Amino acid sequence: MELSVKLNEGVASWDTVIFLYNSALKEVGTKLEILNDEFCHVHRYNPIEYIKSRIKTPESIVKKLKRNGYESTIDNMVKHVNDIAGIRVVCSFTSDIYRLAEMIGKQNDLTVVSVKDYIKNPKDSGYKSYHMMVTVPIFLTDGVVDTKVEIQIRTIAMDFWASLEHKIYYKFEGNAPEYISRDLQECAEIVSKLDAKMLSLNEAILRAREQEENLKGQMFGG
Ligand code: GTP
Ligand code: MG
Repeated sequence: MELSVKLNEGVASWDTVIFLYNSALKEVGTKLEILNDEFCHVHRYNPIEYIKSRIKTPESIVKKLKRNGYESTIDNMVKHVNDIAGIRVVCSFTSDIYRLAEMIGKQNDLTVVSVKDYIKNPKDSGYKSYHMMVTVPIFLTDGVVDTKVEIQIRTIAMDFWASLEHKIYYKFEGNAPEYISRDLQECAEIVSKLDAKMLSLNEAILRAREQEENLKGQMFGG
């Protein structure tokens, strides 16, 4: 059942919609925690450093609708605002991002509606992250409603950059002075270099650990 259908049946209320998005956040949040635990069990480290989730504020929903030329109705918000329920997953390494994305894609009850890879194709600003728009079925007493959630997956370094850029963007209302935009782009390059270095360091650590274990196995194994 589509959320808009349900809304047309007269259940349309702000509270119902927010209830559904909150439920969707809980569902996806739990799924991600379970994936993290399983990954930890298999690979012996946590791919997820932390998860943050939020429901978009009414003000920014209205602002987005206006910006895209839509009237502020509940139907429009459900149809046209894809990030009302947003979950941000912060990982240590870029390799974790793709592994997690793949694991999310394999979840039978999640539907991946679209993917935007701003790591392979960063924005002009320098923004990098992996975005997935998914729907999750929410089971209610009288039916199932597929509800949209935007998942953003990024490294700690990418998150650090995005938070600062976001602050600057708001401070200057999108018109930051030339030198600030330039410095930010430079920082974005440093972030990429740092992520690449940290990844190769981690791989070296993993290789060393594996060798040590093989050696132990040869010495003590049967
Ligand atoms: P909006 O940007 O939300 O209008 O949606 P969109 O359809 O353009 O999707 P997009 O993937 O571009 O952005 C979705 C979300 O990603 C945003 O709401 C931000 O949280 C984040 N994001 C996208 N671009 C940037 C950026 O340049 N800087 C920062 N800090 N965050 C960004
Ligand atoms: Mg955008």
